[in-house]
Amino acid sequence: MSATARAGLVEGKIVAITGGASGIGRATALLAAGAGAAGLVLADRDEQALARTAKEIHELASGLVPVEEVVVDVTADEGPDAVVGRAVARFGQLDAALNAAGVEGGAHPLDVCTDEEFDAVLEVNVRALFRCVRAQLRQMYQQGSGSIVNVASAAVFGVHPGLGAYVASKSAVLALSKVAAKEAGKRGVRVNALCPGLTDTPMLRESLGVRPQIDDIAARISLGRIGRPDELAEAALWLCSDRSSFTTGTGLVVDGGRVG
Ligand SMILES: NC(=O)c1ccc[n+]([C@@H]2O[C@H](COP(=O)([O-])OP(=O)(O)OC[C@H]3O[C@@H](n4cnc5c(N)ncnc54)[C@H](O)[C@@H]3O)[C@@H](O)[C@H]2O)c1
Repeated sequence: MSATARAGLVEGKIVAITGGASGIGRATALLAAGAGAAGLVLADRDEQALARTAKEIHELASGLVPVEEVVVDVTADEGPDAVVGRAVARFGQLDAALNAAGVEGGAHPLDVCTDEEFDAVLEVNVRALFRCVRAQLRQMYQQGSGSIVNVASAAVFGVHPGLGAYVASKSAVLALSKVAAKEAGKRGVRVNALCPGLTDTPMLRESLGVRPQIDDIAARISLGRIGRPDELAEAALWLCSDRSSFTTGTGLVVDGGRVG
């Protein structure tokens, strides 16, 4: 753990992460644990992966960073309020929230994309995220402070045939983050979107299936490779932290310089 280099980035803060069991959410949780977080609330529908991540953090931080595990489907009616409620019940506050729970939904050209396929993506990526943001804003308004980071995608700046529902959903995440930032700014709360490029997570592996395709795509990235989850975590945690105190309403692209 490179805790020394990052000591204090989220010193004393309570950080909640949806999708905290895997990929970018997990990497941000690990980074936060080594960067002074006073407590973590990890929410995910994958109970086993969540337990594994919580155990990793326990080992990494020698048991010094308490982790509240919330096994929840964020699309459930009570899901988003439950996550914030557990943060407040255990730690008394919520300083930062990373909304990383998301689905890609597979490739479906628009002429054959069914209502169900479209709705399934929007349900998680937009409706549930909106409900998470709403619950987080209500708590942070009471505190008069907080930082919310919503994971959108660099895909919103490109053209991606077959991914209509996904790109529409992530465009909505970016737009919603900007509106929330405007509404929340004078109440002490910042809201930003993180726009990752291709990042080596279970979601991407599942989406691409085989390694050669990843290498092919990597060739079109300026840095010649896809991103690592820990590289996205650096940006996510910076946005969560007070070090980004003058940044709100932005979509931070972290994509290795992908063109096209
Ligand atoms: N990996 C990439 O290349 C990439 C690129 C751009 C954006 N993103 C976005 O980053 C975010 C994190 O993705 P990742 O790549 O780390 O994927 P991942 O699959 O590794 O992690 C996503 C996590 O979200 C959880 N989750 C999904 N739906 C949920 C629900 N309804 N309730 C609770 N938990 C749920 C999953 O169980 C999983 O643990 C997503 O929003 C994704 O769209 C990823």
